[in-house]
Amino acid sequence: MRILGIESSCDETAAAVVENGASVLSSVVASQMDTHSKYGGVVPELASREHLRAITPAVREALERAGTRLPDLSAIAATVGPGLVGSLLVGLTYAKSLSFATGIPLIAVNHIEGHIHAVILDGLREGRPIELPAMALVVSGGHTHLFEVREGFTYRLLGKTRDDAAGEAFDKVAKLLGFGYPGGPVIDLLAPFGNPAAVPFTFARMKGNALDFSFSGLKTAVLRWVEARDMDAEIAVRRALGRANARPTTEDWLAATPPRTLDLLASFQRAIIKELLARAASAADRVGARALIVSGGVACNTGLRAAAASAGLPYPVYFPSPGLSTDNAAMIAAAAFPKLERGEFAGLDVLAEANLALA
Ligand code: KG4
Ligand code: ZN
Repeated sequence: MRILGIESSCDETAAAVVENGASVLSSVVASQMDTHSKYGGVVPELASREHLRAITPAVREALERAGTRLPDLSAIAATVGPGLVGSLLVGLTYAKSLSFATGIPLIAVNHIEGHIHAVILDGLREGRPIELPAMALVVSGGHTHLFEVREGFTYRLLGKTRDDAAGEAFDKVAKLLGFGYPGGPVIDLLAPFGNPAAVPFTFARMKGNALDFSFSGLKTAVLRWVEARDMDAEIAVRRALGRANARPTTEDWLAATPPRTLDLLASFQRAIIKELLARAASAADRVGARALIVSGGVACNTGLRAAAASAGLPYPVYFPSPGLSTDNAAMIAAAAFPKLERGEFAGLDVLAEANLALA
């Protein structure tokens, strides 16, 4: 059974064909990074327009590469939320139109469930299905959530961020320091060149749910640290570098970043990693998880991957393979497969929901 997945919740237009929820026949991602990077973040109006431009070629290419014609499809799956509503609408409306024209059933997928299934899909592809219940830490530019993943793919929310998402903290700190957007990849690249113990960031104890996250205090601490030092000149140099060159190399960034700032980046990244892993481990203990799944854009972070591998946790920790870490449509098609088996189809009246919750 082949499912065409369509994803357009943020700034990637993606289409993929996945067979039996386990085999990726094609996965096409049209990134809008170059459109948005000069504005220091995703501009919703531009994103919708780019999705409109990219959606038809992306779907065609996904079908072509998979050697699949429309009648071969068992379902068409599209992301219905959460995300930018104007962006979601493009992919969802396209999916609805295809479904209406062909009579192929439509499946509505939550983007967060997609990120979790990116990792489950890797397990199936490699013939080592992930044992449930699992704890899923979803960390992206919009989310920092802990979900228990139960048998039959039902979910229970155990904790979430009360303010910024972890990826957002990476992006804001990078922007403040002149590293441009998105910030996670650059900080990840430069952190190994600094001393992670140089700046002692601490987290306030959380009142209420001990499994909730908060990153706004850390962001403010970085801001104070920067304000207390004269950093305007080096920040201006990096902004100029970002303007002059769409993709500066590690060497370019290093030449524009003094050791003190590298120490700050390393310390900031380590603080986030510690916070993420500590709460994920407590949540996993609480439900007796047999695996920890880490997914979403921040799961690309090499420091986070290394820390998880050396944390000595009593269950395996799984990250998505590189192509499935950031937004893609294979994860949407994979998440739709159990729904197809259950006959959980969406009507053509299903709506895009910017703040759709998973549980
Ligand atoms: O999942 P994603 O592609 O889109 C959302 O649904 O948000 O995640 C994008 C986020 C951005 O905040 C970006 O800075 C962050 O993931 N990110 C990273 C890394 N790569 C992407 N954060 C830390 N380290 C990375 N290597
Ligand atoms: Zn995402």
